[in-house]
Amino acid sequence: MASPKTLEIVKATVPVLEEHGTAITTVFYKNMFNQHPELLDIFNETNQKLGRQQTALAMTVLAAAKHLDKLAVLLPQVTQISHKHRALQILPEHYPIVGHHLIGAIKEVLGEAANDDIIDAWTEAYDEIADVFIQLEKTMYEQEMWEGFAPFKITEKVEAATDIAAFTVVPANDDIDLSKLSLSAGQYITVKADPEDSDHLALRHYSLYSATSDKGIQFAVRRDNRNEHYGLVSNHLHDHLDVGDTILLSAPAGDFELNQDLIQQNDIPLVLVSAGVGVTPILSMLEAQVTANPKRPIVWVYACQNKEHHAFDSKVNELLAAADNVEKHIFYFESGQILDEAWLANLPKPADIYVCGSMMFMESIIDGLMALDHGVDSVHYEPFGPKMSLELA
Ligand SMILES: Cc1cc2nc3c(=O)[nH]c(=O)nc-3n(C[C@H](O)[C@H](O)[C@H](O)COP(=O)(O)OP(=O)(O)OC[C@H]3O[C@@H](n4cnc5c(N)ncnc54)[C@H](O)[C@@H]3O)c2cc1C
Ligand code: HEM
Repeated sequence: MASPKTLEIVKATVPVLEEHGTAITTVFYKNMFNQHPELLDIFNETNQKLGRQQTALAMTVLAAAKHLDKLAVLLPQVTQISHKHRALQILPEHYPIVGHHLIGAIKEVLGEAANDDIIDAWTEAYDEIADVFIQLEKTMYEQEMWEGFAPFKITEKVEAATDIAAFTVVPANDDIDLSKLSLSAGQYITVKADPEDSDHLALRHYSLYSATSDKGIQFAVRRDNRNEHYGLVSNHLHDHLDVGDTILLSAPAGDFELNQDLIQQNDIPLVLVSAGVGVTPILSMLEAQVTANPKRPIVWVYACQNKEHHAFDSKVNELLAAADNVEKHIFYFESGQILDEAWLANLPKPADIYVCGSMMFMESIIDGLMALDHGVDSVHYEPFGPKMSLELA
């Protein structure tokens, strides 16, 4: 527990650091990567270029410091971040490196204003925050289905829609027993790739589109080409990996999951809303619900560009056909079919709602659902990028 003096100094200096937050984290990353170039194989190069992770890490350290005397209130947020850290294989020994360079950057940016008392207080605060992450991640490492990044063989690669490749992979070695894996709908695996167009290894998360492991682990990847840039890993997986090749994966992670208390009841409908490749975790949830209780009412809502970009339609139809009470709504925005806030008023209420798609899509759907008084506890979502950026938006 931080001393009263530390608490006082940290709380008093948070606003100054918030003001210089971006400058501090820019200096922090520059110095850290200079001294520890091996970390460039862990951090997302594109997030760095676009400044996304900078904002997420800075804002989280400051947010945590504001609650230093009651860090337990941050447990839900810390848990989400820790799932990502575990998936990326961030280890306890990485924390002092980040701490050293973060405190160093505070000194460098604040200059003389950062006296010894301030530096000591922030060092104590960082250590305390880091310890919360390390302890939580320790439990997650103890429970992970396999250690580190393990080799898997690609047994199937099919086109699920234009620009979406669906992969099935099985363990390449005997030490992982596929039949003993207990996958959960909504989880993601993490791929470690060595793309041709980069000097570093690259880690990316991909959601399971099925939580059954009979055929193998199944995930689907969309070519992510926006802003006239080619996505590094998604294009590598599309163009350079095929059936018979080996791929490195860390064990499934994440806390985007169906509310287990509601699966067996039939009064509160399950509403599944997705767009584009955001269908992956939502499809696994549909499968889990239909398998566990096909009587529960289900509303399936999916938006994409056009018929060619419509992913997994036949699998969705098969699952919906096995349920008793379903509605299916498809929106092709190239044909002017827009899933907007006005349409959301057609959804049942109360409902248990799961949303996944681009940041823009999710922000509009979540805003619409909130305006319609669906409570925060009824609306669950998974952004395919840093979660903090959505919450801060
Ligand atoms: C929990 C989670 C689950 C996910 N599940 C899935 C899934 O099931 N399926 C799936 O396809 N994806 C999923 N993703 C997204 C996936 O992890 C990758 O982010 C995605 O594949 C893009 O990675 P990339 O290396 O191809 O692109 P990156 O190289 O990381 O680029 C990302 C985007 O930025 C653009 N870009 C790159 N450089 C620049 C630049 N200099 N200026 C402007 N723009 C630029 C690229 O064109 C691209 O659109 C998930 C993400 C998370 C966090
Ligand atoms: C107390 C210290 C830390 C805090 C508060 C913190 C916070 C965060 C946050 C908020 C995210 C974004 C989560 C998301 O995507 O939703 C994140 C992701 C990430 N963190 Fe941490 N983190 C800490 C320590 C570390 C350490 C020690 C490392 C490794 C050296 C690390 C490496 C990463 C990486 C690689 C990502 C993925 C994003 C990217 O690659 O750009 N973090 N962290």
